[in-house]
Amino acid sequence: MENQLKKIAVLTSGGDSPGMNAAVRAVVRTSVFYNINCFAVYQGYQGLIDGNMKVINARGVNNIINKGGTILKSARSLEFRTPEGRKKAYDNLKKNQIEALVVIGGDGSFTGAMIFQNEFNFPVIGIPGTIDNDIYGTNYTLGYDTAINTVVEAIDKIRDTASSHNRLFFVEVMGRDAGHIALNSGIGAGAEEILIPEENRGLEQLLESLKRSEKSGKSSSIVVVAEGDKTGKNVFEIASYVEKNLPYYEVRVSVLGHMQRGGSPSCFDRVLASRMGVHAVESLLKGESNVMVGVNNDQMELTPLEKAIKGKSEINKDLLRVTDILSI
Ligand code: F6P
Repeated sequence: MENQLKKIAVLTSGGDSPGMNAAVRAVVRTSVFYNINCFAVYQGYQGLIDGNMKVINARGVNNIINKGGTILKSARSLEFRTPEGRKKAYDNLKKNQIEALVVIGGDGSFTGAMIFQNEFNFPVIGIPGTIDNDIYGTNYTLGYDTAINTVVEAIDKIRDTASSHNRLFFVEVMGRDAGHIALNSGIGAGAEEILIPEENRGLEQLLESLKRSEKSGKSSSIVVVAEGDKTGKNVFEIASYVEKNLPYYEVRVSVLGHMQRGGSPSCFDRVLASRMGVHAVESLLKGESNVMVGVNNDQMELTPLEKAIKGKSEINKDLLRVTDILSI
């Protein structure tokens, strides 16, 4: 490798996601492999400011590959949004002779990392950790695969009671402003309708589609609604509108919430995290910085943080076509 780093640090930031621990494990063990001391920073950027960090060795990340959440904790630091806060963080890194920082988080965390790198010319590299899968530059973010499997299992359970009572269920899922979770888990769970921010087909079309389902003999239905969807004000308002206009349906709402953020990471997420952690440290050793590690067509790639932050993670429109056909 071109430049021999001696000390780096790793932190997790923003909303946690299954697979973050597997990524921390990979960063730490790859550091040990290349004779680099790795500091664990606790509580995200706030931990940098407070000096809440310590060297962690290969044994320090035993038995975490299968654990959801993050042993490093995560926090949203308002102080890191200030120049004074970032200066404190920089001083703490320099005090410990730390030469580079790995940030595992979402686009908000990468924005902080990019500002920090630009202000102090301090090498940073990002690993995309969020269940939303809404980051440009990677086909998958850490936690997304686990989250959609969690949602599918939950909707399968809801379908049992929906069909027992001939009910229409509206299920709200996470994803912030993206519809990836809703679209893929909706298809996987056989939802009749999927409402996502990227495609607003309107309430009338929803009614028509549900009427068709009922006429075709469907006694119960599932509608998956992404939390960022704009068809109505919110999932409750949409459900109430449908209930008023389709009196033959008994309607219920289920908001899955933060359970989507937890759980033991899937094998896919564990493998992805392991690959990303190794690639992050090896990229730093090659002198790369101000970039995000991603996987595209199963190849590890680097994307400038600015592009990862500003870019848009497009949904696969063909999945909408699949939904329309299969919900006949
Ligand atoms: O970004 C991950 C995410 O779970 C989003 O899907 C969701 O909108 C948001 O975090 C919730 O944030 P918080 O955990 O702060 O309530």
